[in-house]
Amino acid sequence: MGSMKNLWLMLIISMAIKTGVSYQHLEAPIPSPSYKNYLTDCAARLHPKYCADQTYFDIFYGNETTSEECCKNLHVGVGKSCTDNLIKFVLASSPQFKKNETQIWRRINQIWNGCTA
Ligand SMILES: *[C@@H]1O[C@H](CO)[C@@H](O)[C@H](O)[C@H]1NC(C)=O
Ligand SMILES: *[C@@H]1O[C@H](CO)[C@@H](O)[C@H](O)[C@H]1NC(C)=O
Repeated sequence: MGSMKNLWLMLIISMAIKTGVSYQHLEAPIPSPSYKNYLTDCAARLHPKYCADQTYFDIFYGNETTSEECCKNLHVGVGKSCTDNLIKFVLASSPQFKKNETQIWRRINQIWNGCTA
C-alpha cells in the first residue's frame, strides 16, 4: 500500500503503536486490537488520498477547506460514527490536539453539515 497511505492512516497507526503510554497517562481504556483494526479501516475508507489529506488539515489545523467532493466521500465512504470515533481516538491519544478539542469538533461539524451525500 506504501504511497497510497493517507495522513489519517499514518496518524492512527502511529498512535495505535504508542497508545500504551498515552492512554495510561490519560487514564482511558487501552483500545483492543480489534478496535484499532476498526479505526484503521475507517481511516482507509476515505478516498482519494487528497480528500483524506484535505479533511485531515481542515479538521486538525484549520488551514485547508474540505471540498464538496471530499465531504461527500466522507459521508458515503466513512460515515458519521466512524468519523466521530476516529476523532475521539486522535483526541484521546494526542495531548497536542486535545488542547484544541473545541475547535476540532466545531470544524468536523462544519464539514459534516457542509454537504449532503
Ligand atoms: C490550536 O489552536 C491555536 C489557537 O487557535 C493555534 O494557534 C494552534 O496552532 C492550534 N494547534 C493545533 C495543533 O492545531
Ligand atoms: C497546514 O498546517 C500543517 C501543520 O502546520 C502543515 O504541515 C501543512 O503543510 C499546512 N497546510 C497548508 C495547506 O498550509
